[in-house]
Amino acid sequence: MAQLSLGLDLGTSGVRVLAVDESGKLVAEVNKHYPLLTPRPGWTEQNPKDWAEQSLAALTEMAQKLAGHEIIGLGLSGQMHGMVPLDANAEVIRPAILWNDQRTGKAVEEMAERVDRAVMIARTGNPAITGFHVCKLIWMRQEEPENFAKVKHSLLPKDYLGFVLTGEMRAEPTDASGTNCFHLASKQWDSEILSALELSTSLFPEVIASHEVTGRLKPDLARATGLPEGLPIIAGAGDNAAAATGLGLSSKHTELGSVSLGTSGVIFAPLTEATPDPDGRVHLFCHADGGYNLLGVTLSAAGSLQWYHDTFAASSSFDELLKNAETSPVGANGVTFKPYLAGERTPHMNPNLRGSFSGLSLANTQADVTRSVLEGVAFSLRDALNVISPLTTLTSALATGGGSQSPFWLQMVSDVLDLPLTVPSFNQGAAYGAALLAFKGAGLIKDTLDLASSSHTSSVSPKNHQAYQTAWQSYQSSSF
Ligand code: XUL
Repeated sequence: MAQLSLGLDLGTSGVRVLAVDESGKLVAEVNKHYPLLTPRPGWTEQNPKDWAEQSLAALTEMAQKLAGHEIIGLGLSGQMHGMVPLDANAEVIRPAILWNDQRTGKAVEEMAERVDRAVMIARTGNPAITGFHVCKLIWMRQEEPENFAKVKHSLLPKDYLGFVLTGEMRAEPTDASGTNCFHLASKQWDSEILSALELSTSLFPEVIASHEVTGRLKPDLARATGLPEGLPIIAGAGDNAAAATGLGLSSKHTELGSVSLGTSGVIFAPLTEATPDPDGRVHLFCHADGGYNLLGVTLSAAGSLQWYHDTFAASSSFDELLKNAETSPVGANGVTFKPYLAGERTPHMNPNLRGSFSGLSLANTQADVTRSVLEGVAFSLRDALNVISPLTTLTSALATGGGSQSPFWLQMVSDVLDLPLTVPSFNQGAAYGAALLAFKGAGLIKDTLDLASSSHTSSVSPKNHQAYQTAWQSYQSSSF
């Protein structure tokens, strides 16, 4: 009988649980959803109770599907940066504040006054950023002092779920490195930064490696879900590091990264050493294999195309829009689009930036405008790659996300980035990477790379890079 591992991804729209066998084959999948709360403009929250309930429901359904199989462990992954505040009885004090929440501008200013920017970047890999974890605690201290006074523990989303499942509070480096208070070199909470912020290190749990055991499934939850009592729950990784693990990206092979054209666009570049961009324009996080990675983020990638379709072209299908855009030449006949619809991370790190179309003339057609949206996203990724390239040896990347399914857009991105891109034939995202970490934790595989898919379907190489140079330059010089 095959040994199976489970991987769970605690996402923003829902939770996904996968079962994977030792050969890396996907055996079963369960998805459950929960609401995203937006109590005020710019605020995003979720109820940790919803995460727990839906995760347990998904695990129960999975246990039913797998009746009779041996399950060796459950690896966790999930949305990064969120903050779950717990009191002395480990009860949730207020809803979790999420990665895409933008309420913390004043808290980030306070952090910048307390910690020199260059010191923050050198020690934690990142400047103080509104979406990260620790500024949310400072926001509570500023705005909800009565709640802040009760806080005894501050957990990341998937680490909170690990606590619910096992009764043990633990963290791991990939997610911890997205808090602005984790010392990258020692892979421990940064007592120097925390003391400058007047926060106690005791708020944060012990840090273990991504493939290590956080704790064992509690007997009552084993009975409730039908999973084995004492099932090892593996610390796992933040969603980007887990997805990279699932793709087989290794910090020992820094020449291969990934480019995702999802709602947001992400360039993941593995690194052996923790070398931040001194200007803090790109994230530096820990990778799940003990190394590091740079992460360039364009907040609205396929999300820009979705917005454009819904707002201006809802009567066309995406296929029609893309086919039409192909009739416009490189440079979209002078139309430029900046995709900063939700602010921008790399390289601007500015939640207040906004998108724009420019260069429009009476001669332009819908094809030009659509093409400018696709090019604007590619140029924004190019801005990110320009910061990443001097710090890495990246020479090619795996392409993921919905946008990579369009050969036209994929070729465009490859041309603009001057980077060969390959679409993996098998890509199951963060939950899959978490399941591989559970196999690694059980000692059944040495390195997650052994199991990650190496078969790839289509691959594109840059051919029009020169032609895009001029268009990229006019994108650079167009106003925000
Ligand atoms: C990474 C980031 C997102 C979240 C949401 O920095 O903010 O990828 O992890 O999934």
